[in-house]
Amino acid sequence: MKIFVFFTVLFWVTVENAGALKYRRLVNKWSHSDCVRPWQISMMTKPTLRVPARPIECNPDEEKDENCPAGRNSICQYSLKTLRYICCEDKKDAEIPTCPKYHETLLLTCGGISAAGQCPRGFRCLSSVQDDTVKLCCKPNRTLTYKEPESTFRENRIVPRLLPISPAHELTASFQGEKITMGQLFDAQNLEQLSEPPVMSSAVELHDEKLYTIILVDSTSKTVSWMVANIAAFDGQLEIHRRTKSAVTYQAPDVEDQPAGIHTMVLALFQQSDTWSQRDLSRIAADDEFSLATWISANSEIIEPQPIAATFYGFSTKKDDRRFL
Ligand SMILES: *[C@@H]1O[C@H](CO)[C@@H](O)[C@H](O)[C@H]1NC(C)=O
Repeated sequence: MKIFVFFTVLFWVTVENAGALKYRRLVNKWSHSDCVRPWQISMMTKPTLRVPARPIECNPDEEKDENCPAGRNSICQYSLKTLRYICCEDKKDAEIPTCPKYHETLLLTCGGISAAGQCPRGFRCLSSVQDDTVKLCCKPNRTLTYKEPESTFRENRIVPRLLPISPAHELTASFQGEKITMGQLFDAQNLEQLSEPPVMSSAVELHDEKLYTIILVDSTSKTVSWMVANIAAFDGQLEIHRRTKSAVTYQAPDVEDQPAGIHTMVLALFQQSDTWSQRDLSRIAADDEFSLATWISANSEIIEPQPIAATFYGFSTKKDDRRFL
């Protein structure tokens, strides 16, 4: 009997500790910002000689316009840290979370700490598409429609993390005569299919007087796997064939590629507004910390920032042994 009591007490103490630890971790995480929405920061007053900058306070009962200064989706919210109403706005370049497909998004965080509250009736507390740790109130709605290919690029976190702007169209790419689907994964046993560069067609009519760039980026190893620049169009199709010279020769994926595991590949077609010089192109081939976003913004004189068409796929250096949950 004594032994039984001892074990019960021990068990209770352990559970209690785990709970406190979890709570402390949540509070720590949230206290990075005064704002309840993790993608927001507090708007600050201008610092003066006498007083440093501090969060702008507001009154939730006032008219929305008079509440907070204009900002990036500024909102008057109760701060759990300062225990006052303060003005919050989206962080610069913040990725605003959205609910999963076929759910309406209410930009109200839920779950985690109790003060973040529960969702209104008809809404469920679900992880956002962009960040599993950010939970939002979501309302199921089967009739919602989505713009493609943007929706798939966002859902797979390609846009805006790897590619700042969604392509206007899906790029149809075939490897060895087989059309790939957006997001398809080729595992170690299927790498042979990717041994030759893809053959592409886009649903868009290309202009014969313009030049085009095709780029294939391994976003995981941050390298350019293939690039063909200054491609002319003929009868609305790219003039690209076996003899076309590449700026970066196609690098077929290999089981030895580093890092081991899944690599995300982005294949995009850009319209040029100018001609690439030989010097620019050799610089790309030498870059071993390549970022598509940086490249696009650094070459805004030569390529349009929005790809005309793009697709993405993955390859793995290992056998795909993930289990379907
Ligand atoms: C679902 O979304 C559509 C389109 O936004 C809207 O018209 C409709 O009222 C919504 N249905 C429900 C049940 O909220």
